[in-house]
Amino acid sequence: MIKINDPLTLPCGAVLQNRLVKSAMTERISNHNYQSTLGHELLYSDWARSHAGLMITGNVMIDRKHMESAGNVVFDNEMMLPRLEAWASAGKLHDNHIWVQISHAGRQTNRFGAMRPLAPSEVQLNKMGLFGKPKAMTEADIDEVIKGFVRAAKIAKKAGFTGVQIHAAHGYLLSQFLSPNTNQRTDKWGGSIENRSRLLLTIVKELRWTLGPGFPIAVKLNSADFQRGGFTEEESLEVVKLLDAEGIDLLEISGGTYEKLAFFLLNEEENDVRPLKESTKQREAYFIEFAKKVRAISKVPLMVTGGFRSYDFCNEVLSNGEVDLIGMGRPFITNKDDIADFLEGKIPRLENRVLRTGIKQFEDSAEGGFYARQLIRYSKGRQFKLNMSPLWCSMFLVLYEFRKAMAKKILG
Ligand SMILES: Cc1cc2nc3c(=O)[nH]c(=O)nc-3n(C[C@H](O)[C@H](O)[C@H](O)COP(=O)(O)O)c2cc1C
Repeated sequence: MIKINDPLTLPCGAVLQNRLVKSAMTERISNHNYQSTLGHELLYSDWARSHAGLMITGNVMIDRKHMESAGNVVFDNEMMLPRLEAWASAGKLHDNHIWVQISHAGRQTNRFGAMRPLAPSEVQLNKMGLFGKPKAMTEADIDEVIKGFVRAAKIAKKAGFTGVQIHAAHGYLLSQFLSPNTNQRTDKWGGSIENRSRLLLTIVKELRWTLGPGFPIAVKLNSADFQRGGFTEEESLEVVKLLDAEGIDLLEISGGTYEKLAFFLLNEEENDVRPLKESTKQREAYFIEFAKKVRAISKVPLMVTGGFRSYDFCNEVLSNGEVDLIGMGRPFITNKDDIADFLEGKIPRLENRVLRTGIKQFEDSAEGGFYARQLIRYSKGRQFKLNMSPLWCSMFLVLYEFRKAMAKKILG
């Protein structure tokens, strides 16, 4: 009977002290030079106290022009190593692992960052007019992306982070290459699923070669993007087989893109539009059904994130062998001081503390703003604040992106 407190040895030989993972959550607290700050140290030393076996950083970018948020850290030069070393050390205070999630936002770079971001093809993201029409990448641009991932991973290892995760989910660049909706190329990077996954697989190979056999390399992959004509479960399983052959250390399953967010879904929502089977809703974690299909074809250690809240359920899916690691995001914001006790079974359930506006169109942006504000508060040593204005939260991220991008242009 495997329990959440049991260690896990990864294929590369690294050992995680237990099965709980803080999943990636973008921190949005870099300085005007795209560097990490004291805030990162504060956040991660605090989270390390949870004793989670692994913490994955919020997405870190390879390129200043293609950011998920203007508050991201960019791992593009070694000048920032001293700051990164302090961040990595904070994340290892209690023998935790801390891995860097590496990404490029592609067409999901907002207009404040790039009016014409690079992407696989010129397929624009239509969301509140926030995203410009992308330019299709040339061979040289693709080569730069590969080099950028390698550079970022080298910096991560040098700084003392203990692993990396390649972000190939949620509609960012690598996920855009995987989806036939956003990748309409006719060269070796588009068309068949082998071609669409070529960029991801090339990066995996290059990272393994650069980082060596003993350094953990993980991939975060969508089960599907839930779009008509988009990346499907069948295709995702094909990619899993290809990844399996490369010998990665961990596969994290997620889903959705900016067009259809899937990871914010909560079981109790009644009016949800996302395509979930009733059987999945009844269980806490919404990607677990897909994880079973992955298990049937692959031996790669598996992590599912999204919805896990109760101790018994975590242990049930671990001991059934459905997953190897339990990923949690929002509880590390709203219940962060309870996690250590939860791991020991002293707290049976981490109750959701969610902001609701009551207006369906605003729920995602209000929730996103609510969590973003809590993370920024923590990075300044402040406490969790439950009562926040839903209206202000729903506007927060757009205003934040505008202000931060302008400040970086002026000061950077
Ligand atoms: C504030 C916030 C920021 C997030 N940022 C990232 C990110 O940078 N990279 C990523 O892969 N997922 C990100 N996610 C998704 C989480 O890793 C996780 O998949 C999601 O919150 C569902 O898990 P949960 O139900 O335990 O919260 C973010 C989620 C939240 C709430």
